[in-house]
Amino acid sequence: MRVLGIETSCDETGVAVYDSAGGGLLAHALHSQVDLHQAYGGVVPELASRDHVRRIVPLARRVLAQAGLTLADLDGVAYTEGPGLAGALLVGASVAAALAFALRKPVIGVHHLEGHLLSPLLATPQPAFPFVALPVSGGHSQLFAVAEVGSYRLLGDTLDDAAGEAFDKTGKLLGLAYPGGPALAELAATGVAGSVTLPRPMKDSGDLDMSFSGLKTAVLTIARREPLTQQRKADIAREFQDAVVDVLACKALAALWATGHRRLVVAGGVGANRMLRARLQADVAAAGAEVFFPDLEFCTDNGAMIALVGALRLQSGMTTDYAFAVRPRWELASMSVPR
Ligand code: KG4
Ligand code: ZN
Repeated sequence: MRVLGIETSCDETGVAVYDSAGGGLLAHALHSQVDLHQAYGGVVPELASRDHVRRIVPLARRVLAQAGLTLADLDGVAYTEGPGLAGALLVGASVAAALAFALRKPVIGVHHLEGHLLSPLLATPQPAFPFVALPVSGGHSQLFAVAEVGSYRLLGDTLDDAAGEAFDKTGKLLGLAYPGGPALAELAATGVAGSVTLPRPMKDSGDLDMSFSGLKTAVLTIARREPLTQQRKADIAREFQDAVVDVLACKALAALWATGHRRLVVAGGVGANRMLRARLQADVAAAGAEVFFPDLEFCTDNGAMIALVGALRLQSGMTTDYAFAVRPRWELASMSVPR
């Protein structure tokens, strides 16, 4: 089954074609709106929606050409139904539903986070089920027990900011451009480990919940106390990253232990962080388990993960009505197993 996947939940327009009959990912293309929102220090929803409108059709044409396909070769269309920005989601949903209706092919709304969780299935080797999943992005820092496609049991959640949100806000405090995550990670590379001390929030809380907003406040307190030289900023960035990585690694290991699962899947934008990858590789191997990451380009938002999940669901007969709706808020644990 060849499925066109469309992602427009936030500030990236992603389009891809996935073939579930063995071809795998046939083509994908992405337009990032980072430059558009940078002047505002964060995503401006109305600008995001308008830019999706501009990009989506040219991207779809490019992806089909790359795959050597025409619209008639598609067996279905998938789009991100939620969670995300309502206006941005509506662009992808309306284009997907209109296209599928015109082609007389099924359409399916996909959960954005399910896309992230299953994105390591686009890489080799693929993780086998069951596994523990750690989606860490701008909107989510959670732990799930994943029994199979569609079965997601929430083990732990952030009580406040998501890990990526904490990176972005702390990056802003340090005067870095939006999005703060990659910029802060780059700055941290020149920082001296241990020269600043930040807390490890909830590391020993005894449960699998997390909290990251206190770290940003601790950085703010330091920034107010002293003028920050470039080296001091780098030292703070290093300690901030060490603290987030430390908490995420401890919670992920605790989740493996609590579930008895032997595989950890990491996904979402913060999953691109090299320190996090290295720490998890070491800790998970030491625990006799395996860790899986999506390819770097599929850690952040993309159309490939939506095409993949769309194909998995469409091939089991699930579809969405052409009279689409979007779900800006949508709990992953409410999903069902495709049968
Ligand atoms: O998954 P994603 O593209 O979008 C959401 O669904 O949120 O994740 C974006 C988040 C941003 O907060 C960004 O700062 C963060 O991922 N991020 C990183 C890195 N690359 C992206 N955070 C830390 N280190 C990175 N290398
Ligand atoms: Zn995302």
